[in-house]
Amino acid sequence: MIMVVPATVDDLDAIMSLESAGFEAAEQWSETSWRDELSAPGRTVLLACDERVVGAIALNAVGESADLQRIVVDPSVRRSGVANRLVHAGLEAVRRSGVRSVILEVCYDNEPAIALYQRLGFEQLGVRENYYGSGRHALILKLYADSMEREMTVVADD
Ligand SMILES: CC(C)(COP(=O)(O)OP(=O)(O)OC[C@H]1O[C@@H](n2cnc3c(N)ncnc32)[C@H](O)[C@@H]1OP(=O)(O)O)[C@@H](O)C(=O)NCCC(=O)NCCS
Repeated sequence: MIMVVPATVDDLDAIMSLESAGFEAAEQWSETSWRDELSAPGRTVLLACDERVVGAIALNAVGESADLQRIVVDPSVRRSGVANRLVHAGLEAVRRSGVRSVILEVCYDNEPAIALYQRLGFEQLGVRENYYGSGRHALILKLYADSMEREMTVVADD
């Protein structure tokens, strides 16, 4: 059974293993980036665990808005709802701190992530051209307050 729990700096090794399993080398975050996520104010980092860590999400809340900075799931357990669980738990955590909308950037060709976010109610707000390098545009997606409330209601009703 998958549990979602807050991460600490003791989880850095497990998170870095996820990074290397889940992303191409050029796209991997450094340990320093994750350490910052785990220690800076306003950050929420959650892990999905069974006997091991199989997923992680990082959000950064500022006032009523949060950035979904990162989500990664171990390839061996993908398409089993782990990311869905992590995003819902992340939304619930930032909502408790007063967040009413969430924004993120995703590469235009990252079909799994775009499908995940669209299913959760994120809508396209704009495009950042060449954000990830030449020709690799970022879609800016936003989960508006009403969609966020709806997602939370769906979870509560499950
Ligand atoms: C994107 C990612 C986090 C999804 O994780 P996951 O645990 O496999 O996602 P879930 O099982 O919770 O999927 C939830 C829904 O998202 C959509 N989805 C997820 N992966 C998909 C895929 N490969 N193709 C199409 N839709 C997909 C589906 O609607 C899915 O629901 P369904 O399985 O009932 O059809 C995972 O593929 C990943 O770690 N990718 C590499 C890291 C990454 O690109 N992160 C995002 C940018 S930071």
